[in-house]
Amino acid sequence: DKLRHVDSMTTLPSRAGKIPKLNALILGEALASEEDHLIIPSQDFSEQAHVSSPAEYLEMYRRSIEDPAGFWSDFASQFYWKEKWGQTVYSENLDIRKGSINIEWFKGGITNICYNCLDANIAAGHGEKIAIYWEGNEPGVDATLTYKQLLQRVCQLANYLRDVGVKKGDAVLIYLPMLMELPIAMLACARIGAVHSVVFAGFSSESLAQRIIDCKPKIVITCNAVQRGSKTIYLKDIVDAAIAESVRNETAVDICLTYENVSALKKESTKWVEGRDTWWQDVIPKYSDTCDLEWVDAEDPLFLLYTSGSTGKPKGVLHTTGGYMVYTATTFKFAFDYKPSDVYWCTADCGWITGHSYVTYGPLLNGATVIVFEGAPNYPDPGRCWEIVDKYKVSIFYTAPTLVRSLMREGNEHVTRYSRKSLRVLGSVGEPINPSAWRWFFNLVGDSRCPISDTWWQTETGGFMITPLPGAWPQKPGSATFPFFGIQPVVVDEKGKEIEGECSGYLCVKSSWPGAFRTLYGDHERYETTYFSAFPGYYFSGDGCNRDKDGYIWLTGRVDDVINVSGHRIGTAEVESALVSHPQCAEAAVVGVEHEVKGQGIYAFVTLVEGVPYSDDLRKSLIMTVRKQIGAFAAPDKIHWAPGLPKTRSGKIMRRILRKIASKQLDELGDISTLADPGVVEELISLADS
Ligand code: WT7
Repeated sequence: DKLRHVDSMTTLPSRAGKIPKLNALILGEALASEEDHLIIPSQDFSEQAHVSSPAEYLEMYRRSIEDPAGFWSDFASQFYWKEKWGQTVYSENLDIRKGSINIEWFKGGITNICYNCLDANIAAGHGEKIAIYWEGNEPGVDATLTYKQLLQRVCQLANYLRDVGVKKGDAVLIYLPMLMELPIAMLACARIGAVHSVVFAGFSSESLAQRIIDCKPKIVITCNAVQRGSKTIYLKDIVDAAIAESVRNETAVDICLTYENVSALKKESTKWVEGRDTWWQDVIPKYSDTCDLEWVDAEDPLFLLYTSGSTGKPKGVLHTTGGYMVYTATTFKFAFDYKPSDVYWCTADCGWITGHSYVTYGPLLNGATVIVFEGAPNYPDPGRCWEIVDKYKVSIFYTAPTLVRSLMREGNEHVTRYSRKSLRVLGSVGEPINPSAWRWFFNLVGDSRCPISDTWWQTETGGFMITPLPGAWPQKPGSATFPFFGIQPVVVDEKGKEIEGECSGYLCVKSSWPGAFRTLYGDHERYETTYFSAFPGYYFSGDGCNRDKDGYIWLTGRVDDVINVSGHRIGTAEVESALVSHPQCAEAAVVGVEHEVKGQGIYAFVTLVEGVPYSDDLRKSLIMTVRKQIGAFAAPDKIHWAPGLPKTRSGKIMRRILRKIASKQLDELGDISTLADPGVVEELISLADS
């Protein structure tokens, strides 16, 4: 009876016409054997859900694969289009052997995502609904904006941007903390067809400069300072240094629009560059609160977002308008079983993709009420999240495993002293969630009542790719479950051959979806080689995964040179290049190592310049260099002195060995005889604790 939803043996047609077995759906008997590990949504939950059973999912999924054009056109039609897209709903080439990679959805369709987030909801009668509840760093400091008020604020900024010469297609760089002004700035850009490039306000001036130099914005939008927990961060100083660095690289920034964040720092105490800097509060309120729209093509760019890859240079992931709009809205609605009465809180910062797709666009497109939280989740104490949940009656709470794990350590009383009874759906993102954290989140935070949507996706994918539909699936703690509508994930072996059934391998996707990124800004070739060359015919995610006998997918982490620290993606090459810029560092090799709270920690092997002695001060100074060049979140957890690094005879560093040394798995070093100098391994082991 518990398995009442479960369908019997089923097969699905693929877009190519061949009929593979989607093991996922061969449930019946196989699942029954795992009954003890399954968490079944309650009947009450399932009955009210958008998708109530595997059978219902299957029917929709089948259509999404057999007829993607029809399936996605139906969802796209729920939005306002000034002109409908052409005959061809989508066109794609994901096969590098057949020519250049190309993805287009709804080409020829004319729309505006800001219109669909705001004006359309107001036209539908929701102008007085709360769009944003803003909660400041200090408890008791808060504000709200209705849809109507949000539109007015967006229009004023949009008018200003136009007035200072920002045009359709121009880049605008946004370096703001989680103030309401951050989503406002994103929407204002979208309204006039400008391309926003939000840089997480934890990045250093050097990282910011690198991004300014790459996308060449006319204007940078920032604020003077922000308080996070008990710390004050002087953002404007960081921007000043970044612009100065950009100017040295022949990239001028004409305007620095600065919001006065009074609670953190007064105007008078802010350093100022006459002629370049403008106070937001001095100019924006003077503009009209209505603003004409710039209608754009579905394939016109909406934003750039830089992310780390396996080389030192960050990649400018480019998303376009129409497909991204349809995809973020649809995934939001189904993966969280969103209803108009929900109050939704995603703890991510808008500086990351999660904040783009699931703080700003996805929820607002659905007319949702969203919490924007400026502070730190453990300030003033570890109960802050649940205080906020009770204060605003949050019903959908979406966060990262690292936060779950850190709160777990603080003791249950910080959770249980709050009611949390408004909660009905929980979500997790950023890294695999370990089953014990999953269970704590489920049992304690959600009182064993709220399904958890463990959403697997990436900056590149724009929206959820593999995720539970909370009313449909029996859940297995730690598994992201099954593909979202329209997504065809495949597991391939080293040779790029698809593997069926129970297996482990590399996670790829074999056809396009509306929210996919279209290119890397200014470097389509890098786009093709990074994502489409390793396994020709597929988009390669960079992740490894297992598929169990019931077809559930379990992500196992990155298989490339990317480390995932607290859900933040950091390239080992970026950290290495920061380290070697230190005058006393000759060489560095960085690997990820398991970390109890952060998921992965950064472990750096450092070879010093000849004659320089080891010291704790030098260790600190190396760590400072990384903080300064990338940001505090990328600081190495461990510096391991390395007189030499294990290299092959051709000079390639063998990270496999370094990973084993870092995680103290010394009996698993494997064959070290191919090293140019096998002696370095012993030396490294002896220096592990010095
Ligand atoms: C990488 C993407 C997309 C949201 C935030 C991170 C890992 C993300 C999960 C999950 C296991 C996950 C992957 C992926 N990841 N979500 N639910 N389960 N792993 O975005 O910075 O682009 O990083 O985060 O390794 O490749 P991102």
